[in-house]
Amino acid sequence: MITLTQPLRDEHKDLFPNIENLKKAGLAVNNPLTSKNLEKIGEAYSFLKEHLLPHARAEEAALYPVVQKVMGSSSATATMSRDHVEIEQLTLALGRLRATLVEGSIDSHQENDLKLLLFGLFTLVKVHFAKEEGVYLPLLDTNLSKEQAQEMFIAMERAAHAAKAEIH
Ligand SMILES: [Fe+2]
Ligand SMILES: [Fe+2]
Repeated sequence: MITLTQPLRDEHKDLFPNIENLKKAGLAVNNPLTSKNLEKIGEAYSFLKEHLLPHARAEEAALYPVVQKVMGSSSATATMSRDHVEIEQLTLALGRLRATLVEGSIDSHQENDLKLLLFGLFTLVKVHFAKEEGVYLPLLDTNLSKEQAQEMFIAMERAAHAAKAEIH
């Protein structure tokens, strides 16, 4: 069924293989760390920083305010915003850890931390997407007009562009 919020469902679908890659990168973490492992970790980090965080910023700017209006409470999205904060903090922690990694043997703390961050991000983002799709989007599908939905997606796109420009 095509719904008003299909563009956001499609965007999640496009992002999802990269979410799966977080799990794959976690499963591939090994000691000694190979150049292939490092490449996977680098790709996971780039995806989070360059695609997922701008997506979250766009939702904060243009999607969540609409959800708040529909639900009649400015705190309706507070718990989901907290997820965004946690995703950003874990991404930054992954970036810091990655900067310390070189090919070859790693200590057991680095090995554990890498796995915890990659698996933690995988689970957190997967559940976060499911909450948005299962709770927020059906509400918008039944409460927004076609014009309101279009306006919201244009504003999201603008906010995502601005967030991406900030990164580069
Ligand atoms: Fe989100
Ligand atoms: Fe999302």
